[in-house]
Amino acid sequence: MSLPTSVRPSLLDEAAKIQDKAYAPYSNFRVGAAIRTTSGAIYTGVNVENAAYPEGTCAEAGAIAAMVLGGETEIAEVAVIGDSDEPVPPCGGCRQKIREFAGPEVQVSMMSRTGKVLTMTVGELLPGAFTPDHMD
Ligand code: THU
Repeated sequence: MSLPTSVRPSLLDEAAKIQDKAYAPYSNFRVGAAIRTTSGAIYTGVNVENAAYPEGTCAEAGAIAAMVLGGETEIAEVAVIGDSDEPVPPCGGCRQKIREFAGPEVQVSMMSRTGKVLTMTVGELLPGAFTPDHMD
């Protein structure tokens, strides 16, 4: 049984706590992501850039890798925080990565550096997604 929202630590707080660990010397745009799974566990990730720019990875990808390493594959909630004035939405590739492990009803909370929050569902962020179901 999961705890009521009011007594759960905010997932955005978890993302904010680790955002500073991002390795972003090229963009100077630090992103922190946190995932809560259906078991209640929390996994976090930051963006990790590279001198060969396309080799950089997003914060969401890091959190997903940590989740899978932790033996879990069912996302219950996602939070993303970035260094911008507006809430930072997951990039297109990350929306697809999240959808692999989250149903369309799962909420994604996005926060700006100023604390502005926008919450959308995975289905709103990626309508008409190609999902594992298409491979049945
Ligand atoms: N970035 C993320 O980590 N997640 C997103 O969804 C948006 C973009 C990172 C990638 C790159 O290191 C920096 O933000 C600028 O694009």
